[in-house]
Amino acid sequence: MKKVALKDLNMNLPQLLEQRWALLTAADGEGCNPMTVSWGGIGRLWNLPVVTVYVRPQRYTKGLMDAEQYFSLAFLPEELHDVMALCGSKSGRDMDKGKECGLTVMTDEKAPYFAQGELTFICRKLYEQDMTGQCFVDPAVEEKNYPGKDYHRMYVGEIVAILEK
Ligand SMILES: Cc1cc2nc3c(=O)[nH]c(=O)nc-3n(C[C@H](O)[C@H](O)[C@H](O)COP(=O)(O)O)c2cc1C
Repeated sequence: MKKVALKDLNMNLPQLLEQRWALLTAADGEGCNPMTVSWGGIGRLWNLPVVTVYVRPQRYTKGLMDAEQYFSLAFLPEELHDVMALCGSKSGRDMDKGKECGLTVMTDEKAPYFAQGELTFICRKLYEQDMTGQCFVDPAVEEKNYPGKDYHRMYVGEIVAILEK
C-alpha cells in the first residue's frame, strides 16, 4: 500500500464510483462496518480535497458516521463485486459484514479500512447536514427519490490520506 496525492490519480473518479461502487466504512466500537455507496463525489471544496457521501437515516452506518470523526471510502477489485453486493444489502445491525466477507481490517490510519481495497480514501469529517424537502428546486427529484421522506444526510470529509495498492 503506497500513499499517493489526489492530483496524481489518473482516473475518472466519478465514473469509478458509479460503475464500481465503493465501501464507506466507519468505526463501530472495536470493529467497523462497511456499507456500499455509489452516489457521492470526490473533488475540492473550501480549497481542500474532499469526499462527499450521502447516507439515509435508516442505515446502521448513519449512527456510526454521526459518532465518528473519520471514515474511509474504498474501491475494491472487480472480482470482489459480491462483497459490494452483500455490503449494500445486509445491515451491520444484523451481522459483522467485514468478517462475513473475509475482509481484513486495517487500523494504522485514523479510520478503519480494508487490506483488499485497491484505492482507499481516509477522510476527516468536516461538515454534515440533513437534506430537507424544502430545498428541492425540482420537486420531481424529491418525489422520485424520497417518497418516504427519508432524506439523506450529507457528509463532507477532508481527504487526509490516499492509499493505493
Ligand atoms: C450500488 C449500491 C449503492 C448504494 N448507495 C447508497 C448510498 O449512497 N447511500 C445510502 O444511504 N445507501 C446506499 N445503498 C444502500 C446501503 O448500502 C444498504 O442499505 C446497506 O445494507 C446499509 O448497510 P448498514 O445498515 O450496515 O449501514 C447502496 C446500495 C447499493 C447496492
